[in-house]
Amino acid sequence: MAEFETVTVETDLLICGGGMAACGAAVEASYWAKKHGIKVTLVDKAAVDRSGAVAMGLSAINQYIDLNSGNNTIRDYVDYVRNDLMGITREDLVASIARHVDSTVHLFEKWGLPIWKDEQGNYVHEGRWQLMINGESYKVIVAEAAKNALAEAGGEYYERVFITHPLMDGQKCVGAIGFSVRENKIYVFKAKATIVAMGGAVHVFKPRSTGEGFGRSWYPPFNSGASAFFTIWAGAEMTCQEVRFIPVRFKDAYGPVGAWFLLFKSVATNAYGDNYMQTNAAELDKWLPYGRVKPCPANLRNWLMMLDVMEGKAPIYMQTADAIKRIAEQAPDEKTAKRKLRELESEAWEDFLDMTISQAILWAATNVEPEKRPSEIMACDPYFIGSHSGASGAWVSGPEDLQNEATRDEYFWGYTNMTTVDALFAAGDASGASSHKFSSGSFTEGRIAAKSAVAYVVDHNEPPTVDQAQVDELKAKILKPLETFQQHKDATTDPDINPNYIRPKQHMYRLQKIMDEYAGGVSAQFKTSDKLLEKGMELLGYLKEDSEKLAAQNLHELMRCWESVHRMYQADAHMRSILFREETRWPGYYFRSDKPSIDNKNWLAFVNCVYDRDKDEWTMMKKPVKYIVAEVEQQLSEAGG
Ligand code: FAD
Ligand code: ADX
Repeated sequence: MAEFETVTVETDLLICGGGMAACGAAVEASYWAKKHGIKVTLVDKAAVDRSGAVAMGLSAINQYIDLNSGNNTIRDYVDYVRNDLMGITREDLVASIARHVDSTVHLFEKWGLPIWKDEQGNYVHEGRWQLMINGESYKVIVAEAAKNALAEAGGEYYERVFITHPLMDGQKCVGAIGFSVRENKIYVFKAKATIVAMGGAVHVFKPRSTGEGFGRSWYPPFNSGASAFFTIWAGAEMTCQEVRFIPVRFKDAYGPVGAWFLLFKSVATNAYGDNYMQTNAAELDKWLPYGRVKPCPANLRNWLMMLDVMEGKAPIYMQTADAIKRIAEQAPDEKTAKRKLRELESEAWEDFLDMTISQAILWAATNVEPEKRPSEIMACDPYFIGSHSGASGAWVSGPEDLQNEATRDEYFWGYTNMTTVDALFAAGDASGASSHKFSSGSFTEGRIAAKSAVAYVVDHNEPPTVDQAQVDELKAKILKPLETFQQHKDATTDPDINPNYIRPKQHMYRLQKIMDEYAGGVSAQFKTSDKLLEKGMELLGYLKEDSEKLAAQNLHELMRCWESVHRMYQADAHMRSILFREETRWPGYYFRSDKPSIDNKNWLAFVNCVYDRDKDEWTMMKKPVKYIVAEVEQQLSEAGG
């Protein structure tokens, strides 16, 4: 096997990932680093300019509180998030982000992000909390700010280095290890504090798009569960691992629906023209009190749609033509109406071109004129994205000033955004129970985590102890698939068919089949049960055994091997958590047929879990949901917020 050089990087603060949260962390950490003489290092598996969920650009900023307008309070946002998550949220974390998010959005604008303005020069809102942007270059703009900040503070960044594992000193995280996806190099990052911001996970479940369409999913294919694996392997307490997200999107190219529902006030109907949100409204009473909150929680919106699909009333359509016509008709005269119509048509296309270019291509390829006929929408496949309308991630400490008597012991243990593992912080999709952060909130949470991690480094400014034996062991483990392939490749004439190994694609397909059929994927109409989960977990156990035989032909495949292993741990935590929570709380995301209703008496609680890597054992636990909004409001008004 080819020789691998080991590159050792010593730093004070390590930021794993190069997405929205990581860029926020880099900007904020660099500011404090200059003051304290601290070195900051960022490492991304891809190129920061176009990595992560914002790679293709976005058409909206989904979290903007607009505190200065006086129309909204932090409490309003916390209420919105709690209701959308059917009661399960860490209010301290949501409030912590919400109170700082507006300043982040103003920074984005200062750095050059075009935010839509009306004739009076005010931001154009998509909905109450969302702003419209010309966001094709959103990520490039944010990446530039992060790189500039790092350069000014003497920090550095590494691109195309795939992080596989944390480095541990007992119960403390002392950095990370990974490999270059371009050169034969292993990277050992030794750090006094580490921030995990490597996004969420896709392709844990079998996607709708297979074969020629494989890779086209709503969630970007590059985020493959690295954050979850890193924190799980480090022994961090994880939360909301059952809270997956299934977005409803334009069919097959996954174009966004937010602008249609919120900005254009469009309606979605079944094939017979019925608005399922009205015709199925009685169902909402089964999911009280959240069934009757406004806006209707995302999973329940999904669920009302799915009921029609299950009754054979598909396809489901976004009535784009009606929406456009309705807005144009409000114009005072025919000439203005015609101009408005043209404007709306171009906005409809731009919404996709800014964020999901392939949807515009699909519209063009299938002769769709949104002003003339409706377009099909559907529920995608399940994703893990704690920064959006899912909630999975690590259990992190909240800020001290937002705690009260009831929450202090449960939600606060020191540095803000530190996980239960010493010196290990998490932000964005990597931190759980604080949904609806989106791009702006993830960047903000990265800033919060970074400020806190720098404070940790200042307080614990001793060099990390990294055991060389651990590094050697991990290095051998990471590279083993390359060795396995070389050793056995000549045993057969077709490298895909070989009794001695499993290739990463085969490994991923097996994982997806298990999850699809046993854990409530697309084929199972998002339904599962205790018995299905138990069987699925048994099969996942065999897959785990076979992971030892993963084989990689080259560096790219080595990355694919580790992506699949990362996803497998996300899958494990997911199934265990669904099984542990003995109710159905989020129909529309998943439905447990053996426990088909919500049980607020017993399960208005977090499901948390911890993995012991030495024993290969999981511990499941219930943690109380404590509401702090009244106290949050008081704290903020005392602080002049
Ligand atoms: P990401 O921004 O996804 O970054 C993850 C980073 O980790 C990437 O740099 C990736 O390369 C890196 N990484 C992954 N694995 C590894 C590894 N093993 N080693 C090293 N690095 C690794 N929000 C809005 O505000 N408005 C919108 O309109 C909007 N639309 C969206 C549309 C889509 C299709 C999606 C998927 C999300 C959308 N969001 C939107 C949400 C927003 O994109 C996310 O909330 C945000 O990007 C999360 O930030 P993050 O840093 O946690 O993850
Ligand atoms: S995006 O990530 O692709 O931009 P999405 O299209 O789901 O997200 O929605 C953007 C924002 O609008 C999110 O805050 C989402 O919760 C909200 N939203 C979308 N559709 C609706 C709806 N029908 N009712 C209320 N809020 C909605």
